[in-house]
Amino acid sequence: MAAPAVGPVEDAFRRLFKFYKRRQPPPDLSGVLDFNRLGLNASAAKVLDAKLSISSVSDQDALRAGLQPVGKWKAYGLQGYPGFIFIPNPFLPGCQRHWVRQCLKVYPQKPNVCNLDMHMVSEETADLWGKSRAQLRCKGSGKREPRSLLEKLRWVTVGYHYNWDSKSYSSDHRSLFPTDLAVLSQHVAVACGFSHFKPEAGILNYYQLDSSLGIHVDEAELDHSQPLLSFSFGHSSVFLLGGLKREEAPTPLFMHSGDVLVMSGVSRLLYHAVPRIVPCPEGAALPWCLSPTPPEDPPDTLSIIQPCPEEDWEVCAVYLQGSRINMTIRQVLGPAQLFPTEPGQGAGPWPPPAGV
Ligand code: OGA
Ligand code: MN
Repeated sequence: MAAPAVGPVEDAFRRLFKFYKRRQPPPDLSGVLDFNRLGLNASAAKVLDAKLSISSVSDQDALRAGLQPVGKWKAYGLQGYPGFIFIPNPFLPGCQRHWVRQCLKVYPQKPNVCNLDMHMVSEETADLWGKSRAQLRCKGSGKREPRSLLEKLRWVTVGYHYNWDSKSYSSDHRSLFPTDLAVLSQHVAVACGFSHFKPEAGILNYYQLDSSLGIHVDEAELDHSQPLLSFSFGHSSVFLLGGLKREEAPTPLFMHSGDVLVMSGVSRLLYHAVPRIVPCPEGAALPWCLSPTPPEDPPDTLSIIQPCPEEDWEVCAVYLQGSRINMTIRQVLGPAQLFPTEPGQGAGPWPPPAGV
């Protein structure tokens, strides 16, 4: 009888995940595709231009969401990954600050849910911002200082709350989806050709320099015909974009602050992971695109971007010196779809009967 194999056979995805996660010696990042430096990269040959729906979002609506006019965005696809769209930082100068502040000061507030709720009582997790502010402001560069509560934050869920144990959403565990984030998401979805996208759930991930996100597929949403949108701020990361099976070797790419990634169509259900956070080059505390202060334009009352007061930015900037924030936005249900009410009862009227 043949001896049984010892442990699981390592698939191609896991092999690359471990390669990029390795601490010592640090991995060679020259094979990581950088959409900002296409001239310098071997895998740039796989890069395609992606078409956007330029006139579907007015310049004024884009401006009010802190975005460049869609006509100025670049958008790329990747050979072999239909439906994958990469938009290098489409934000206006200074406007990423709004989203960073929301992710640190506003979205972690109740009734939204976060990882700290699992092992702390509600009085302790109320006002993470207020409780961490002073500690972050006087933070030195010492690695041994205790982490503030904000630095212990790993995820926040908004809208339908993703349940990490059951790996599902449910109709009775839901809070309001933030209106500003809904507007941003809808503009990006519409520009990518998804005019009916409904932002219903958001998972915000908070990474420290030593964090990673394991290999997974986002399949808990009941409607996979709508895209998954991903926004990144702060330090860069290596993102591994795999195939429908873990045996397929992934394509490594950089996500920098402000970059937007869209997984739609065939690419909606691909394996992916974040094995590594990549700090800014030596000397730069923050990515350059976060440095410029917002323009002093007369306030547009319809803008969803609130100017970030300097005293708040000071806290955000210290936090970001060791962190990356990612927001992934999803539509959960198809049109008129309901959650299954009882086990085994199916997922409601979806797909709709032909002809309806
Ligand atoms: C996720 C995810 C990727 C990232 O939240 O499902 O894949 O870049 N995030 O943080
Ligand atoms: Mn994911």
